[in-house]
Amino acid sequence: MTFIIAIDGPAAAGKGTLARRLATHLNLAYLDTGLIYRAVGMKAKREGLDPVKAAQMLTPDDLKAPDLRTEEGGQAASKVASIPDVRAQLLEFQRKFASHPPSPAKGAVLDGRDIGTVVCPEANVKIFVTASSEARAERRHKELLERGESSIYARVLEEMRERDERDSSRSVAPLVPAPDAVVLDTTKLDADAAFRAALDTISERTRG
Ligand code: DC
Repeated sequence: MTFIIAIDGPAAAGKGTLARRLATHLNLAYLDTGLIYRAVGMKAKREGLDPVKAAQMLTPDDLKAPDLRTEEGGQAASKVASIPDVRAQLLEFQRKFASHPPSPAKGAVLDGRDIGTVVCPEANVKIFVTASSEARAERRHKELLERGESSIYARVLEEMRERDERDSSRSVAPLVPAPDAVVLDTTKLDADAAFRAALDTISERTRG
């Protein structure tokens, strides 16, 4: 049995930063499952493919495309992620990564929307990272400006709400906390405080 930590939550809640840091600290492998959906969305768009076909034909190189972390990439991912056959196609890879993480890791941290509910319902620890939509839009807006991209706060907020709505209301694997997930609200927490809170949760859940 590998040790699995599932980190779920809406866009820009701080999942990625937290998951990456936990993986490094605990010597676990890390999988950003959002990146896979982004790669499928952008591949389908770029090559004019049916999204299910794009998921079937996905290669490791597709995960290196430079435009995946853009807002366009996020919207494209969210759209293909609502197609049940796309999700089914990607499930096996994610489960395999969790059960057989790349050596020498003895476990894995996966972040996404449905890790604790669908991909790894047996995960040892499940954390649902969230924050107010205003706080998340503010962070994303700052990040875009820092990257030298143009950004309008009101537009970022609107697009984020649109994406949250789509991710939460889809029929397959919607964004909801697993019943046994610990909710971590980062609205008023910086990255260090969120990391400490997550470590506390992990020790509580694994004690005994
Ligand atoms: O985590 P992210 O912002 O990179 O994810 C991009 C989109 O991919 C997100 O809006 C919904 C979808 N997604 C998903 O449906 N399930 C996952 N496990 C991860 C991402």
